[in-house]
Amino acid sequence: MNAKQVAGYRAAEFVKDGMTIGLGTGSTAYYAIEKIGEMVSGGLQVRAIATSSASEELAKKYNIPLISASEVDHLDLAIDGADEVNPQMELIKGGGGALLREKLVAMHSDKFIVIADSSKVVASLGQFKLPIEIVPFTYEWTLKLLRNRYDVPFEMRKNGDDLYVTDNGNYIVDAAFGVIESPATLAEELKAITGVVEHGLFVGITDTVIIGFEDGRTEIN
Ligand code: 5RP
Repeated sequence: MNAKQVAGYRAAEFVKDGMTIGLGTGSTAYYAIEKIGEMVSGGLQVRAIATSSASEELAKKYNIPLISASEVDHLDLAIDGADEVNPQMELIKGGGGALLREKLVAMHSDKFIVIADSSKVVASLGQFKLPIEIVPFTYEWTLKLLRNRYDVPFEMRKNGDDLYVTDNGNYIVDAAFGVIESPATLAEELKAITGVVEHGLFVGITDTVIIGFEDGRTEIN
């Protein structure tokens, strides 16, 4: 088993009959969805909200019943991957471009479980470029605001020759902060910039981190 699979499968054990769950996005969340799908075919009853069209397709493939947010006012549990996780269980997410839906789902879940292999564990966040979702209208001006505020490289995410477009119809700027001294401060500052919809810093949201290892072990914090 690879380490992502170990973490994903272990997280699926937290899913219990009758729960309403959030399904994350990415190659680690894939394994959690796969395992939950197996559990559903074995009789587990759950309802789910997916954080991306890719995860929605996967849930459909595994016959996991999907609902819309208007049908519930909160989720029991959400399981998702991360690009970086620090010892305070703060995260950088959004490498796969799904950060806005991922944050919405995580915020409205009673329990948010992060799954990762050990390569995602860092002492300080920021080596992974921080994804920032911005609205397309006047996006060049938003980019200028960001560049004026922070002296770090910013790059518009691309999809081939075109700008990358999220499931919400927005663009993503990837910011190479290097070391983020205070994720909470940066998180607040970024949210205050007009044109920024959301960013990939997850601060004070994570309840449990499951790190998987290739030998089948997990570390749970
Ligand atoms: C997508 C995400 C993913 O959870 C993150 O990029 C980790 O992905 P992977 O499990 O494929 O390494 O935030 O927006």
